[in-house]
Amino acid sequence: MLALAQRHLRDLYPKLQTVTTRLKKRWERLADAGAPLDVVEELKRFTVDVTTLVTFGHDLNTVEQGDDVIQRKLELVLPAVNRRLFALFPTWRLVRLPRDRRLDRALAELRAWLGELVAAERARHAAEPGRAEKPSNFLEAMLSGRDGDGRPFSDDVIFGNLMTMLLAGEDTTAYALGWAVHQLCDSPESVMELRREADELLGKSEVAGDIETASKLTWAGAVANETMRLRPVAPVVAALEAKVETVVGDLLVPEGTRVFVLTRPAACGPDHFGEPHAFRPRRWLGETAGAHDVSAHIPFGSGPRICPGRVLALLEMKLLLSMLYRNFNVERVGGAEGVRENFAFSMSPVGLKVRLRRRSSALAGTGAA
Ligand code: HEM
Repeated sequence: MLALAQRHLRDLYPKLQTVTTRLKKRWERLADAGAPLDVVEELKRFTVDVTTLVTFGHDLNTVEQGDDVIQRKLELVLPAVNRRLFALFPTWRLVRLPRDRRLDRALAELRAWLGELVAAERARHAAEPGRAEKPSNFLEAMLSGRDGDGRPFSDDVIFGNLMTMLLAGEDTTAYALGWAVHQLCDSPESVMELRREADELLGKSEVAGDIETASKLTWAGAVANETMRLRPVAPVVAALEAKVETVVGDLLVPEGTRVFVLTRPAACGPDHFGEPHAFRPRRWLGETAGAHDVSAHIPFGSGPRICPGRVLALLEMKLLLSMLYRNFNVERVGGAEGVRENFAFSMSPVGLKVRLRRRSSALAGTGAA
């Protein structure tokens, strides 16, 4: 939890800024080349680099790499979880299909890679015993932590937790950002406001200069919230269980019942939000017309298992959106109907391609664009 807390994020902010600046440079090159961009793939480079920094303190730098990146392996995992979670029969226990074997290979490679990171961190701990008292990232905290019986965590537990962080942090935030780009393609007014805010707060810098500036990007935050309301990347919060017999509305949920919460019906219901299907970021800035029931909006879940990465996710979204719209014009290739929702544990935009044009020439001439 501490690894994802605001205080730790403040210390890490310069590194988040570095990742964002690298991505800007990459996008400038791609903009100059004029080719359409698979924006979700691009965003995954950003989110995996940020997550590995926060989790391991390790600069993976996939933004500046070619195509053989760790994401190719990670992206096989959640769709497999989804298939198996909703399967009527556990066929994979009897027959290993090609896709099961692909998954096995990917997991083995991920495990080997994580094993190297853990070994390197263990060596650092042995050389500098003081590190155990003041862990500076999630991996260090897991290595110095003890379980309820006072024993160090096993390699399996450490691997499981590192994988959870990587999977939970990468796709979700990249998809949420992808959906934001998609929504913004049809909302020029929101783009204008986002830009106005970024121009005003970022001054001459191309990326928010410190965490205080990033926190002030309220339009970007409103775009993030409105996007997640209409396009939740976690539309099913799975694997909850009623601890006691509970009545929800007119429904009796006996103790021990497995519960799958669908988050979108309430978030898009007219009783909770006025004009529920319209993309209106303003509603998150106090300009509400009609209902505005924030308790019906739970993109990060709720209760004791609420997403511990939500502050980081919102920070990433503000940082990225302000960088993108301050420096580029973004145009979707094709119409909105060409982009569809694909649910595989998380919900991603499929078919979203954009073209970027640098905005700097327009900025130099007029002070706005
Ligand atoms: C827009 C981005 C994100 C969304 C929409 C999201 C959403 C969620 C949801 C719905 C849950 C389940 C909550 C529940 O069961 O009630 C969850 C769990 C979790 N999330 Fe996120 N998340 C995002 C980003 C992140 C990031 C950036 C990290 C960390 C790097 C992260 C780490 C986790 C972890 C570790 C869990 C499991 C918590 C547990 O089992 O107790 N998430 N997230």
